[in-house]
Amino acid sequence: MTPDFDLLVGPIGCLATCDAQAPRTGAAMRELPVAGEAAVGVRAGRIAYAGPWKEVRSASAAQRIDARDCTVLPGLVDPHTHVPFLGDRSAELVLRLQGKSYMDIARSGGGILSTMRHVREASEDELEKAGLKLAARFLAHGVTAFEGKSGYGLETEAELKQLRALASLGRRGPQKVASTFLGAHFVPPEYRHRHGEYVDLLCEEMLPAIAASRLAAFCDVFCEDGAFSLEDSRRILLKGKELGLLPRIHADEIVDTGGAALAAEVGAVSADHLMAASDDGIAAMAGAGVCATLLPGTSFYLRKAYAPARKFIDAGCPVALATDCNPGSSYTTNLPNVATLAVFGMGMIPEEALWAVTLNAAYALRAHAEVGSVAVGKRADLTLWDVPSYLHLFYPYAESPLTTVVCAGKIAWPPGGRDLHGGPC
Ligand code: NIG
Ligand code: FE
Repeated sequence: MTPDFDLLVGPIGCLATCDAQAPRTGAAMRELPVAGEAAVGVRAGRIAYAGPWKEVRSASAAQRIDARDCTVLPGLVDPHTHVPFLGDRSAELVLRLQGKSYMDIARSGGGILSTMRHVREASEDELEKAGLKLAARFLAHGVTAFEGKSGYGLETEAELKQLRALASLGRRGPQKVASTFLGAHFVPPEYRHRHGEYVDLLCEEMLPAIAASRLAAFCDVFCEDGAFSLEDSRRILLKGKELGLLPRIHADEIVDTGGAALAAEVGAVSADHLMAASDDGIAAMAGAGVCATLLPGTSFYLRKAYAPARKFIDAGCPVALATDCNPGSSYTTNLPNVATLAVFGMGMIPEEALWAVTLNAAYALRAHAEVGSVAVGKRADLTLWDVPSYLHLFYPYAESPLTTVVCAGKIAWPPGGRDLHGGPC
């Protein structure tokens, strides 16, 4: 006889489903409903039940996890990474600690261009292997869906190679992967003195090729002094939009170039970084419903000011958090630690930080109908934490209480599985 559930998690000591009709904004981000004595049932990779334990305690299940001492959250969503990449830039860390700026290093041929050389030389297979390693590390931090991008090829074929490697991560799973074209990451050396021609190439050759390949859902631009101007960014994002790619922007990361306002103007789904965003830019984003994806790991790693999270929340922007995982400005896959930095560095409260790595992060990828919360019909992505309440994810800090990750209904981490016949989570 077929059991009622493939997997039954229950009883659960503290369940935060992070579910809502729309991304949480403003004061609503301060409330995170929780239930005790709860359960989650999974069938065919989907959530089939989320509610009181007493309703399902006598149901049959192929696998069970007793989570009475645990907090259960949805799988975490990382809406901004630079996966896949390879190459070692550890020497840049030392240069920065000695006082060189991120942009100085980039302008002298290091930085993004250093990774570009590695990526151009690598085979698709090597890139995919490097991506798989990063995906496994994300999983070990509870990340069951993430965004990745190109931007280290900076020529049509190498950008496509990066996107194909990324698509392969999505096919192999277990995580859900969203894909972004970032050909406008930096002007490659062969166009160093022909910046305008590279922008022409992006609009006339690269974007049409990427759109035709259907390998990317989003088009991103590094809108910054020394990378792409506001005018270049507008042209590239509008061209991408015309070809069916949703705009998103690396905006106002180092200086305020008006990137936040541009995000509002072009109808971007998200503007990311925003450490130097102006008050007018913030208001424009809120008016246009642009998600503010904040990356406190980058501020920490570059030893820069944190983005004004409180201003974005007060203005009514949906706020999400992401690792920005990349080999230069934020080399981490630890999204829970990024949430901790958001709390201690940016003054977000734990409830706000948790919405920002679940439903709001999924919204930043327009994937909120599929992932980001525990709700019947959604992908069965769960994280189990050996703590009595979600506050304890922040109260003892820099700990790793994650015990189990369920991804698309399967126990995906720890790698060897776990004792499936009961026992604590
Ligand atoms: O989001 N700012 C631009 N891009 C990345 C860094 C990429 C790199 O340094 O390789 C970022 O911080
Ligand atoms: Fe980035």
